[in-house]
Amino acid sequence: MPSSRFPLGLFWLAAAGSAAVGVAATAFFGTGTLPAISQSQANASAIAQAGTTIGVYSGRHYNTDKALYRQFTARTGIKVNVLEAKDDALLERLKSEGKNSPADVLVLVDAARLDAATDQGLFRPVRSAALQRDVPANLRDSQGRWYGLTRRVRAVVVNPKLVNPATIRTYADLAKPALKGKLCLRERKSPYNQSLVASQMILRGDAATRTWIRGMVANVSQPFFTSDTPLARAVARGECGVGVVNTYYVARMLSGEGSAQDKQLAEKLKVVYVNPSHVNISGAGVTRHARNPQAAIKLIEFLASPTGGRGYAEANNEYPLKGFGDNPILKRFGTFRADGVSVEQIGSKTRAATQMMESNGWK
Ligand SMILES: [Fe+2]
Repeated sequence: MPSSRFPLGLFWLAAAGSAAVGVAATAFFGTGTLPAISQSQANASAIAQAGTTIGVYSGRHYNTDKALYRQFTARTGIKVNVLEAKDDALLERLKSEGKNSPADVLVLVDAARLDAATDQGLFRPVRSAALQRDVPANLRDSQGRWYGLTRRVRAVVVNPKLVNPATIRTYADLAKPALKGKLCLRERKSPYNQSLVASQMILRGDAATRTWIRGMVANVSQPFFTSDTPLARAVARGECGVGVVNTYYVARMLSGEGSAQDKQLAEKLKVVYVNPSHVNISGAGVTRHARNPQAAIKLIEFLASPTGGRGYAEANNEYPLKGFGDNPILKRFGTFRADGVSVEQIGSKTRAATQMMESNGWK
């Protein structure tokens, strides 16, 4: 497929603007077949970036993301073309385009997807002092192939009429026999659950995780859900007593952004941040065949910075890379203690996690 044409549902968004460009303190790792770029080359390249256009393939799809790209253009003079699509479609597209791809940056959500793109060789390792500073080590790839931009928490939602929220303090509590017939889970193929299970394998070991999965599967009361929002609605309606979702879905319902009915339903839910909580990310990396890698790094640096990161997090009711932000809806949920597990390690375990889920009845 020619790179200038997009299938239905995929579209480019251009962000215009111009300004002076700074000097990039960035360089590439000299790994494999990818050449290292020296600091002087990087600086010369940075000066030439104003007026450059970069392509962003993004698995995120929030209107406010585009406002951030426009801010970036106003600051740097680097224009941004965005193609938003489902993660899988983006990976397929990048693979089929190869060297002809117009994408310089790939944005994906969840460790499982970042790991898949890494395994397929779609990222180019890069090094940046700003990214080392702004992105905590456990939220970025050790080889610089991707960097976290926002944090999302997999939390427990409880219907207090059916289950006492105080009885849920850890993910392990979801396997207690007291919850028989009360638990709702999203299906195995959800990367969010694969990453959650991978995090438990890392923290608690395979045997304890297997027992936990079996206990939860024995408690499940409804067919496994295909997405988080219907699951949250089912808990609110009392069809389940308890479930597991990313909190931005509940925040979105509470915001009234969807229907008034969803807002009413969400008001009935109690969000429980278990201790410690599994934290996942939205993340981005420079594509293997990026034509403007230095400009691409500058965009990722902007999105990971406190300014850009805040906007990126707010767009989807996620948390910034550090601290809890000041989103009033998220504040209602309280704070969480992150388990601190490396997202890279989680990504590398998601295949084993999926197998464990499958062989222990997680549909
Ligand atoms: Fe999501």
